[in-house]
Amino acid sequence: MTEWAVLGTAFHAPSPDRLEVLENALIVIGADGAIARVEGHGQSVENFRQAGRLTELGPRQYLIPGLVDCHIHAPQWPQLGKALDVPLERWLQDYTFKLEARYADEGYARAMYSDLVATLLANGTTTAVYFATLHLPATQILAEICLDQGQRALIGRVAMDDPGQCPDTYRDPSAALAIEETRRFIDFVKALPGNDRDLIEPVITPRFIPACTDELLQGLGDLASETGCAIQTHCSESDWEHGYVMDRCGKTDAAALADFGLMTRRTLLAHGNHVTKADRDLIRDKGAAIAHCPLSNAYFADAVLPVRTCLDHGVHVALGTDIAGGASPSLFDSARMAVTMSRMLETGVDPARPREARGTPGRRIDFVAAFHLATAAGGVALDLPIGLFRPGYRFDALVIDASAAGSNLRLYAEDGPSDIVQKIICNASPANVAKVWVDGKLVRS
Ligand code: GUN
Ligand code: FE
Repeated sequence: MTEWAVLGTAFHAPSPDRLEVLENALIVIGADGAIARVEGHGQSVENFRQAGRLTELGPRQYLIPGLVDCHIHAPQWPQLGKALDVPLERWLQDYTFKLEARYADEGYARAMYSDLVATLLANGTTTAVYFATLHLPATQILAEICLDQGQRALIGRVAMDDPGQCPDTYRDPSAALAIEETRRFIDFVKALPGNDRDLIEPVITPRFIPACTDELLQGLGDLASETGCAIQTHCSESDWEHGYVMDRCGKTDAAALADFGLMTRRTLLAHGNHVTKADRDLIRDKGAAIAHCPLSNAYFADAVLPVRTCLDHGVHVALGTDIAGGASPSLFDSARMAVTMSRMLETGVDPARPREARGTPGRRIDFVAAFHLATAAGGVALDLPIGLFRPGYRFDALVIDASAAGSNLRLYAEDGPSDIVQKIICNASPANVAKVWVDGKLVRS
């Protein structure tokens, strides 16, 4: 027998308004790392147990899909929790580009990236979508570290060549070179030894329109249509960013990206706070996704993403930490904050205004929606079979131990399944992440 199985109660959320409880379920995983079937508690439990191929969850332990963080700046890890005192455009120039330039040093890159990937796995992030830097060697190191630690990762070598927005010390010397190095990174990942299941994927990564010339954007759009690679960039993040693109391109970020060939079924648009209704139509029709980064948005966005509006509109939305614009490596923190921000959008925030004029009614999301955004919605956004316990899906999963030492979670006899999920989203920390599997392989326990 090459299959193995996990026995226990699992939670997953196939849609923003649907929590499914798989009570005392047997999840059977094939040698290929995919879920073969999901059964009830029957005879095969005994067969797996006798074969020594059964992992049984203990009391107060629950299986949930691995978390899918759709927007991380890997090189900004040492900056987590500082330098959030200025607006986006100054934060980039005064702190962030200077830090990212240090990744010319491969030793520094290796130290920072190893620690980041291990920390994200400890927080339950089984799939990470990374912006690296414009250094090809350091970006290759990040790919090797993710593969080595067993994290599913989509990684981009950042492209940025516009002298008007990028410092001399941290800029691609030409569009042609940025495109060439992007191509070389794609080839590197495709040939990476041990990556035969495509655990690591390359992502075409124009930083954002302000940092890139038209020539670069068009060249990367052409490369995307040639290779079919995923794409990531920032879109309408702040008033400044949105306005800059309107002035330069005479259209919104979303429209401009689409015209450059950068809006596909596999495009991830970080933030998207200021997208218009027409942009939402476009993003939905292309099947692209918004990576919602609520922690970072509190500092840089000048607004709250109307996440309920996007979902109701049929736009794919998933979650990102936006390390280090967002000051936490935990996607649970992002999920909590997504709920909180939506409530503040709904009620409004200024008590000096009359209640009726304060907020935008009906704009909240609840904890089930947040759980969905952190898991299954990531799979939809990336067009990968992850985030649900269904046959054919990759087995990327976490054991949440609600009674772990040092935990902030408390469960009581009266807590039903939806209470438990809500409590996990509100309070789970690395203390509670008892086991982590990626692609059927135990990577942390
Ligand atoms: N826009 C362009 N680069 C960045 C970045 O590194 N972080 C955020 N939040 N927005 C950006
Ligand atoms: Fe970002």
